[in-house]
Amino acid sequence: MGFYQQLFRLDGKVAIVTGAAGILGSEFCKALCNSGAVVIGIDIQEKPLNELVNELSNHYGDHRIYGFVCDITQQGKIKKTIYEIIKQFSKVDILLNNAVARPADFNSACFLEYSLTTWREVMSVNIDGMFMMAQAVGKHMLDNRQGVILQTSSIYSLLAPDHRIYSGGEYAGKAMGTPAVYTTSKAGVIGLTKHLATLWAEHGIRVNALCPGGVASGQNKKFNEKYSSRVPMGRMAKKTEIAGPMLFLVSDAASYITGQVFYVDGGLSTW
Ligand SMILES: NC(=O)c1ccc[n+]([C@@H]2O[C@H](COP(=O)([O-])OP(=O)(O)OC[C@H]3O[C@@H](n4cnc5c(N)ncnc54)[C@H](O)[C@@H]3O)[C@@H](O)[C@H]2O)c1
Repeated sequence: MGFYQQLFRLDGKVAIVTGAAGILGSEFCKALCNSGAVVIGIDIQEKPLNELVNELSNHYGDHRIYGFVCDITQQGKIKKTIYEIIKQFSKVDILLNNAVARPADFNSACFLEYSLTTWREVMSVNIDGMFMMAQAVGKHMLDNRQGVILQTSSIYSLLAPDHRIYSGGEYAGKAMGTPAVYTTSKAGVIGLTKHLATLWAEHGIRVNALCPGGVASGQNKKFNEKYSSRVPMGRMAKKTEIAGPMLFLVSDAASYITGQVFYVDGGLSTW
């Protein structure tokens, strides 16, 4: 294999993906397996995680993907899980800090009536969980003096949602919307990313943020059309179009990139 082909490969790398059972997390696991990494999927939902592990094991063979059920809001559980992972795999090369919470009442109230309990529930995953995962895995990366952390943020770290496009929008039969807690948490991801990037750069650890635009994953036609009309490329993203840039950022092809915020949004943030 030539030098430049090798730069994009992940053979022999151990990669953790949080929120592995979700829409993007499962595609990230697939892309990492396909690029040669050994993948450790972490999720709070056991059933879809096991289904993903079975599906990818059938496709890529045994010893390519492992599932660990863990609630990333619980520091003790994170420590125990990372301890088990290090014991079993000796190292972690890549951390995709990707999990998000979408509790049942995520979208159910307007800002003035939004409950503090729901706000904290979302923050406890999107920010606290991300912090605790970076802390637990970062410790081992610092010991090894190498590692890559990629944190999933969103276009809604830079942009406010255009609230007008959500009326009539539905996902899985429920009204759509993006509450302030999501926008706030995703902006926080950028702060944590830049902080860690400068803190750990001299220790061989790269930290970047990936900001996807809206991914087509079953939203109704009305929402898809309204959203797409605001995007220079005129459409929502496919999951594979987010996974491709993810692979680049965690690979050695991006070895001089740290502290950066990558928008993968069909040009939406450009105008
Ligand atoms: N899907 C999109 O259109 C889109 C757009 C922009 C950004 N993003 C970002 O991409 C990332 C993935 O989004 P998604 O759409 O795949 O989300 P998703 O809701 O499909 O998946 C999130 C996963 O996180 C898991 N999770 C929730 N709480 C957890 C906890 N306490 N411990 C462990 N796991 C937990 C869930 O079980 C779920 O499998 C998120 O950071 C999101 O903000 C997604």
